[in-house]
Amino acid sequence: MAPDAPASCEVICSGLAKRFGATEVVAPLDLTFAAGQTTALVGPSGCGKSTVLRMIAGLETPSLGQITIAGAPPDKILRRAGLSMAFQDPSLLPWRSVHSNIALAQKLARQPVDRAAIEELIALVGLQGFGDTRPAALSGGMRQRAAIARAMITKPALLLLDEPFGAVDELTRKQLAEDLPRLWEARDTTTLLVTHSVSEAVMLSDRVIVFSARPARVVADIEVALERPRFAGLVTDPDFIALKDAVSAALAEGMASLRPLAAQ
Ligand SMILES: Nc1ncnc2c1ncn2[C@@H]1O[C@H](COP(=O)(O)OP(=O)(O)OP(=O)(O)O)[C@@H](O)[C@H]1O
Ligand SMILES: [Mg+2]
Repeated sequence: MAPDAPASCEVICSGLAKRFGATEVVAPLDLTFAAGQTTALVGPSGCGKSTVLRMIAGLETPSLGQITIAGAPPDKILRRAGLSMAFQDPSLLPWRSVHSNIALAQKLARQPVDRAAIEELIALVGLQGFGDTRPAALSGGMRQRAAIARAMITKPALLLLDEPFGAVDELTRKQLAEDLPRLWEARDTTTLLVTHSVSEAVMLSDRVIVFSARPARVVADIEVALERPRFAGLVTDPDFIALKDAVSAALAEGMASLRPLAAQ
């Protein structure tokens, strides 16, 4: 972790809202994300999930309300290099190899470059043998995995993942869903994950928040009290299925708020 980064962090959104011009994208939200927990954010496409994540990352200014991360505004944790992000469209530097892209994150966080830890993460995301490869020679899913490794190398107190597995094949996704939470737990990372996969949301998280269609409102806040570590075989467990059904039902309810608009 960066020398002065917080060890763990709670994220509090108070009356957080966002408008783009006349369009209300996020209705006032009051949400607290406990330190060290993984929360999945799900909801219909265009409902405002990425906007919420971008506001927490300090990349978008809220129209109303405020965010505190480890008791301070978002820009403070950014300055202390305690926050990492991996978004759907991984912005790797094209002239640097996978290894060198990941090393750069450590340098920017003022951490010593740890070659062994980088190699370990490269292997964990299934990119062994590609450390010296440049992003242009990787597939979309491989680039996403490199971006996940880059986000995790600094051992961030807060990790924001916006559909990070979108282009990753099914088998690798399942492997990542088993391996990544172990790292987050070991490091006490507060993780916010946006995903369109209900199964992944339940498998990875301690809590699933279901948003309505735009403007995003919380339709359901579901605790996932399944034991860890979790394995792919859990998908047939009745408790897992019941949680998935609860999330799917809430999603359907949230979608329903779209219908009056669609009928206009
Ligand atoms: N910079 C912007 N300017 C204007 N409108 C924006 C901007 N960013 C997002 N929006 C609008 O805000 C709404 C929510 O977008 P957002 O990307 O947060 O949705 P999302 O829930 O992440 O969707 P998806 O699941 O498809 O990624 C959309 O209608 C989008 O067009
Ligand atoms: Mg999005």
